[in-house]
Amino acid sequence: MQSSEKRFLKALRGEPVDRPPIWLMRQAGRYLPEYKERRAIAGSFLDLCYSPEHAIEVTLQPIRRFGFDASILFSDILVIPDALGQDVRFEEGVGPVLEPITTAAQIDALDGDRVLDHLMPVFKTISGLRAALPDETALIGFAGAPWTVATYMVGGRGSPDQGAAKALGYSDPEAFQRLIDLLTEVTGDYLIAQVVAGAEALQVFDTWAGSLPAPFFRKWCLEPMRRLRARLADQCPNVPVIGFPKGVGASYETYIRETGINAISIDTGVDPVWAAKVLQPLGTVQGNLDPLALVAGGETMRKSALHILDTLGHGPFVFNLGHGIVPHTPPEHVGELVELVKGWKP
Ligand code: CP3
Repeated sequence: MQSSEKRFLKALRGEPVDRPPIWLMRQAGRYLPEYKERRAIAGSFLDLCYSPEHAIEVTLQPIRRFGFDASILFSDILVIPDALGQDVRFEEGVGPVLEPITTAAQIDALDGDRVLDHLMPVFKTISGLRAALPDETALIGFAGAPWTVATYMVGGRGSPDQGAAKALGYSDPEAFQRLIDLLTEVTGDYLIAQVVAGAEALQVFDTWAGSLPAPFFRKWCLEPMRRLRARLADQCPNVPVIGFPKGVGASYETYIRETGINAISIDTGVDPVWAAKVLQPLGTVQGNLDPLALVAGGETMRKSALHILDTLGHGPFVFNLGHGIVPHTPPEHVGELVELVKGWKP
């Protein structure tokens, strides 16, 4: 099948489709027994990300089981700090742990030139996936947005308030801006290289966009994304870009308008009725079933999914969650959800 005919890519371009496409954020992961098995063989989490053989296998696992319309490259947003030379580890039960970068001197010591060489295994995974995926399944490449990646680089781990990154950004705005600019640059290089390797669409995750006051949201989220999008439009004009500025409320509208992205992934808190009225005229909407409704299953899951489909399914739309699948999700519920979306008619 021609890339241009894939249901998911048609929906991102705003073309009519027979039914809304579906994929789920974190569709590969610990809720699948076959993932846990492969993860144990691979060694560390980063070893898994950098092994084309294992990364291809875990990307394909949810496609085989559920027949999603799109697959997402198996990797993580924190391969960028790792590629920049920062020490990055993933600890069992804790999550990512990085050697924090807290001074201007440490920011200026980061080396953007080594990123593409370091990430060569990821590009091998992408080209291997293009050969291995079913004909009709699209392949999504991705990266973290500069602000979200910076919160982990500066804080050294996940935090509820992104306090460390804000402290640096507020007290030394010039140095922090240099970090945002470096990340914008290397993330552009990285995404373009993913497209060259075979990615057919790109998603940029800005998980912590919702914690910033408006002027800083503009400076550290909106503006970098606008520059990134402009560069991608220049270098790979036919590849659709999805933005996910999680938690920004009414600023979703500003974000899609001002960045020029093709599609916007909305979080669980966004009212689909509002999204249909305000966002769909501007681009494709992706979302936004509560990952916890997927854990619950049953009537709550079915009703919630149908409400989203009935509200957004007539416009340009991709069915997804409002955030990633959580580890205690029963795989049977995922199967049931996929059948429900595939059986729904616009
Ligand atoms: O299936 C997919 O969606 C593709 C793979 C993917 C992962 N992480 C795999 C992963 C993607 C797209 C991500 C994005 C990511 N990573 C984000 C943005 C989206 C979001 O969820 O907000 C963020 C903030 C990260 C950083 C990160 N990676 C954290 C905070 C954690 C720990 C939390 C956790 O769930 O354990 C990770 C680890 C991680 N990334 C796992 C997976 C499957 C679990 C690690 C394991 O298997 O031990």
